[in-house]
Amino acid sequence: MADWAIITGASRGIGRAAAARFLQAGWRVMNVSRRPCPEPGVVDVLADLSVPGWEATFTPALSRALGSSPGRVCLVHNAALYGHDDALSLDAEHLRRVLEVNVVAPATLNRLVRGYLTDGSSILYVGSTLSEKAVRGAASYVTSKHAIAGLMRSTCQDLVGTRVHTVCVCPGFTDTEMMRENVGDSEAARANTAARMTYGRLIAPEEIADVLLRCAEMPVLNGAVLHANLGQIET
Ligand SMILES: NC(=O)c1ccc[n+]([C@@H]2O[C@H](COP(=O)([O-])OP(=O)(O)OC[C@H]3O[C@@H](n4cnc5c(N)ncnc54)[C@H](OP(=O)(O)O)[C@@H]3O)[C@@H](O)[C@H]2O)c1
Repeated sequence: MADWAIITGASRGIGRAAAARFLQAGWRVMNVSRRPCPEPGVVDVLADLSVPGWEATFTPALSRALGSSPGRVCLVHNAALYGHDDALSLDAEHLRRVLEVNVVAPATLNRLVRGYLTDGSSILYVGSTLSEKAVRGAASYVTSKHAIAGLMRSTCQDLVGTRVHTVCVCPGFTDTEMMRENVGDSEAARANTAARMTYGRLIAPEEIADVLLRCAEMPVLNGAVLHANLGQIET
């Protein structure tokens, strides 16, 4: 009987680091993203979460991998899109796509995985500092990350009596492709971003992966919005 981590967006960044961390801790890992996870031993379900209908690929792969009696399951909602946009000129199609990946896919996965959530299982949401505040020029992302915190709180209430727990982990600036695409990939851009942290450095994806694994193992955190941002300097 194996423990399974089902991680969306483990092809790179925080999701990939989480896959490596769970594997190291003895869990089996399933990745759901468009590209495969480079970590050896991960079961890939290649799916585009922005296109409704991906469930048709995911559902049989889930039952094939987990079988009828898995150990604990940790579902990690990590995949996300970040777009530069503005609350006063949001394109509806663009907003739908961001919400599809960042909010609708997690809700759908909860429904598809729920039958496998044995005692000690967990549903972990990867939020953001922007789950509880806003910055200019990121309206769709900010909206989706607030929604993720709400979905986690609802999950906690709706899991009553199941011995399954849920947490929303909110990273700060973490050195991944997403961050580089958004703040810039030059040394200077990264140094500027690092200077916005009280520690004067960026977070490593592995640090967030460690937090996720700890959350999977700590039911006392049920319902928590947990900030993991190395002390971001508020401006
Ligand atoms: N990095 C940061 O500073 C930071 C800060 C706060 C919060 N976060 C949150 O942390 C999480 C991971 O971020 P990251 O920095 O690791 O991002 P990343 O490097 O851009 O990785 C995003 C992952 O999401 C997957 N993904 C994107 N669109 C998808 C789609 N349509 N269908 C399926 N999978 C899709 C990507 O896989 P494919 O491209 O292979 O599909 C990729 O594996 C996100 O929820 C993000 O909001 C990050």
